[in-house]
Amino acid sequence: MRADTEQDILKTELWWTAVVTVIVTIIMLAIIYAGLVHHINPPSNIETIDPKTLHLTGEFTEGNLGTKVEAGDQVTSRLVATQFAFQPQCIVVPAGRTVTLRFATPDVIHGILVTGTNVNAMVVPGYVSQVHTVFTRTGDLLMPCHEYCGLGHSQMWATVRVVPESEFRPGPDGRATCGAR
Ligand code: CUA
Repeated sequence: MRADTEQDILKTELWWTAVVTVIVTIIMLAIIYAGLVHHINPPSNIETIDPKTLHLTGEFTEGNLGTKVEAGDQVTSRLVATQFAFQPQCIVVPAGRTVTLRFATPDVIHGILVTGTNVNAMVVPGYVSQVHTVFTRTGDLLMPCHEYCGLGHSQMWATVRVVPESEFRPGPDGRATCGAR
């Protein structure tokens, strides 16, 4: 091997090292920016649930689904994602206030996102997906399933109705539904 060839190889390797360093730095900065500015973070909540019994007992039974104002004025909305619908089809939440969304699925992997917000998560059988967010815009936001879950995937969506705080009127049991606006 000639000496100048070895020098060439070294030069090329250093060049690519620099290129890769720049690319990795850009990706890292993008992740940090998304996390700090847009509050887009990887899931940190690990909570298991039995997909076979979640509809029979516990917080995801039919009567517990939807929005509820809980202790400490905490607004929590619970939804079940199934093939091929969300239960309930519509949830109502107040604007400008921290809302916790909790999802579970009895069948396959689904995904949820709420258009125009930072809400984006996967719903995996066996786990509860939890997202905290503050909705700033009022109106009906579309929440489609974004993880291919079978033939009816494209028909699977729900509505998040964001109302001003003054129009958010939960009943005496703390529950609020899209119908009782
Ligand atoms: Cu559920 Cu796609």
